[in-house]
Amino acid sequence: MKRLIVSLLGIFVALTIRANEGMWLPFLLENNIGEMSEMGLHLTAEDIYSINQSCLKDAVVGFVDLDRPFHHFCSGSVISAQGLVITNHHCGLDVVQQHSSLQNDYITNGFWAMNQSDELGGNKIGVCFLRRMEDVTAQVLDGVNDTMPSDKRSILISNNISKIEQAASTDSTLKAHVDAFYCSNEYYLSVYEIFEDIRLVGAPPISIGKFGGDTDNWVWPRHTGDFTIFRIYADSLNRPAPYSIENVPYRASNYLKINAKEKHENDFVMLMGYPGTTNEYLPSFAVEATQDVFDPIVVEIRGKSIDIIKERMRNDQSVMIKYTSKVASLANAWKKLQGERNGLKNKHVVDQKREREKQMLAWIAESDERKQLYDNLLDDYEADYIEYVKHNRAWLLMSETIYKSEALTVCRKIKTLINENMEDSLRRAQILDYLNEFYADYDSETDISVTQMLINEYLANAQPEHVPATLKKWNNTASFAAAYHKSMFTTPSTAISFFEKHSVVNEKTLLKDPLYKLASETNDIYNTKISKPLSQIQRKNNHHQRRFMQLQRECFADKRFFPDANSTFRVTYGQIRGFRPSDAVVYGPFTTLGGVMEKCDMDIYDYTVPDRLKQLFAANDFGTYCNADGTMPVGFITTCHTTGGNSGSPIFDADGNLIGLNFDRVWEGTMSDLQFDADICRNIGLDIRYALFIIDKYAGAQRLIDEMEIIGN
Ligand code: ARG
Ligand code: ASP
Repeated sequence: MKRLIVSLLGIFVALTIRANEGMWLPFLLENNIGEMSEMGLHLTAEDIYSINQSCLKDAVVGFVDLDRPFHHFCSGSVISAQGLVITNHHCGLDVVQQHSSLQNDYITNGFWAMNQSDELGGNKIGVCFLRRMEDVTAQVLDGVNDTMPSDKRSILISNNISKIEQAASTDSTLKAHVDAFYCSNEYYLSVYEIFEDIRLVGAPPISIGKFGGDTDNWVWPRHTGDFTIFRIYADSLNRPAPYSIENVPYRASNYLKINAKEKHENDFVMLMGYPGTTNEYLPSFAVEATQDVFDPIVVEIRGKSIDIIKERMRNDQSVMIKYTSKVASLANAWKKLQGERNGLKNKHVVDQKREREKQMLAWIAESDERKQLYDNLLDDYEADYIEYVKHNRAWLLMSETIYKSEALTVCRKIKTLINENMEDSLRRAQILDYLNEFYADYDSETDISVTQMLINEYLANAQPEHVPATLKKWNNTASFAAAYHKSMFTTPSTAISFFEKHSVVNEKTLLKDPLYKLASETNDIYNTKISKPLSQIQRKNNHHQRRFMQLQRECFADKRFFPDANSTFRVTYGQIRGFRPSDAVVYGPFTTLGGVMEKCDMDIYDYTVPDRLKQLFAANDFGTYCNADGTMPVGFITTCHTTGGNSGSPIFDADGNLIGLNFDRVWEGTMSDLQFDADICRNIGLDIRYALFIIDKYAGAQRLIDEMEIIGN
């Protein structure tokens, strides 16, 4: 008996010591594959990433805006031979919104293309496939030495990078990008194929796709059916091509098989995709500033904007359509940063980091060589960081106030276009395109209240030398309101007809517009007094951080370091696992449709449930997608290390089959962007069976199910 207990304890310890921290590079997986196998993976490193054979990475995509092809705002998976791609509802929401109107409200009602010809194109997003990745550090740092001034260093590096990118983009369909890793100590090249004709195929109603809304965002237990389906289209030769009716569904070189079997706690899982940004290797004082200075600014100001916009949305359905996606993005960071602060504080991350810094100082003191390299590093870094906090605070304040006002944003954009060197007719066309798009989602009544509040916040918190002259004059609400109404930019028809009538516009005329004038003054302040000193100090910071990263890797040589997320392809792995968020509270790893019905409240927008879903639930009509006990799965949590950009990432079982879509993290653990804590950091996935059930039973889009390869119960 004793032996049994001891061995059970052994298993328990083995299960729990896995930290699962890390976002690993796909082409360097040999370093992890042993551990992954021990944890339950049945695949080889080559099955996951290979440039010689078809592998899992070929079925994973990054979502991009076509004008920012290397910034992957979400991830997704190819799930059929005809280029069907599944990602999150919140990743596709902008596209759904662009096709929606009061008459065809796909946000509220959902959208299902029952035939291929109904699939909606003309979207501004693309998806990329990673074709290969390689270490190009030596080429990038060619000619660089540690003693050269930092501006010379960066020019040399960016020239070297351009050469490498050009050389790797020989084929017109391939786009190459070099990114910095380990705080610019290393550089890797990624080569992508980017498809530009991505059509909307299916999206559940928002009451499923965003069930729980912003109330449940970042929260476990979660019951959101956060998925949307697109299809990649290609030219007749299966190559990327801009949107055209001639294009045909992409013939995928690899697609994921779907495992619709029941899952269990502690099952091995693996996840791939494009995590955006993390800062895992900052010193204690930088974490402290994030926690006590930067995060509170964002939380406070966004909270106020959200309250104003939500009030308007509740009273006006057209505002609801126009602002759903905008408020979601404001609210997302607002809530996340509150969780981040709490986590950092509760886990005493600043103290932990201080402790490690002490160890580093002791390590440095052990040899003259180390002293020569690192002796004053932390002190110098901290001294410069104090300056940085001052400048970054000013920058953040402006970005979160004046730069968030819609009316002032439109003025700034017009100013940029007016001052750009281009032919007048092209300029006019670009201005009109921009205005039409901008005003489609603009409500002046909402914006005036938000802008007024933002300006007040700015005035109350900014340093006097950062306040534009015009603002100093608007000493009361009435003068702000008068200026707002007088501006042509707050009445869409006036602004549009002005630029329709005038093909050549002198900026002097525009400067008579009160909001344009304010935007212009703000720009000057921003350029000369805020962003310039900030980038100077930022350069110093980057230099210190690069060396601090080096110091950490050398001092803790036994630790396996993963590079911070930077929107490049990564692999993470872990297990399905519940957690204890706080004293006496235990969270299980799975949620079910019964939980949707428990939360259902038809008087609260975030918790309304469509009748059809209620009927299916009441009839236990779950097809083959439910658990053995008859419950219908919805969400699950795992110990994978993820961040923003990982939304839509496929979650794989031990055989590389698709079992879920990542879409969030638990609020208690959002500190994982600065420090992963195995006790409380969990990512939230949508059980793929819930998506299948909605597509099949709720929407009746059988043709999509028929395209997929499903391994059933
Ligand atoms: N928190 C998730 C992410 O960072 C999901 C956001 C969308 N969902 C929502 N309810 N707002 O993007
Ligand atoms: N929801 C995030 C995303 O959109 C994922 C996360 O931050 O955990 O990528």
